[in-house]
Amino acid sequence: MNTNTTAALTLLAASTIPTTIYAHGGDDHTKAWNAPAGAAARPNPMSSSSENIARGKILYETFCKQCHGVDATGVGPGSGLIRGKSTNLTYSADHHTAGDLFWKIRTGRSAMPSYKLVFKKKQVWEMVTYIKTLAAKE
Ligand code: HEC
Repeated sequence: MNTNTTAALTLLAASTIPTTIYAHGGDDHTKAWNAPAGAAARPNPMSSSSENIARGKILYETFCKQCHGVDATGVGPGSGLIRGKSTNLTYSADHHTAGDLFWKIRTGRSAMPSYKLVFKKKQVWEMVTYIKTLAAKE
């Protein structure tokens, strides 16, 4: 193999390394979790009105804070009792689109349940609207 071929192969290998490995606190830090591009690009149809945020907060505090924590940093009373680690959603709010969060809440992965059959789409968007207000101010 001549040097040019080696250089070309090195470049090829480098370009296939995924560039979006998110450091969120999911079960497996080495595996990025991203919604399919189409789902991630979906805009939130809800306005961030105080009513929608309040409805999302009630749902979040009823169904999600056990694992994700009341402040959504990933530490709740269920931490240590479940397999894996709940994600810090204040980080997710900053780094993932509304469509990405919507898809993940409905799809689930590892200890994160799938809520597709639990909530109406409208309710999931309300939770996404609420979670988005928790974005860590960096
Ligand atoms: C039984 C514990 C548990 C409950 C209850 C739970 N989650 Fe999760 N959640 C997790 C775990 C664990 C992960 C990490 C999954 C992974 O990456 O494999 C996660 C991941 C997520 C993610 C993805 C974040 C990212 O950046 O990828 C979102 C969004 C989320 N949860 C929202 C919610 C919402 C909203 C609720 C309530 C309706 C909820 N979760 C209830 C355990 C839970």
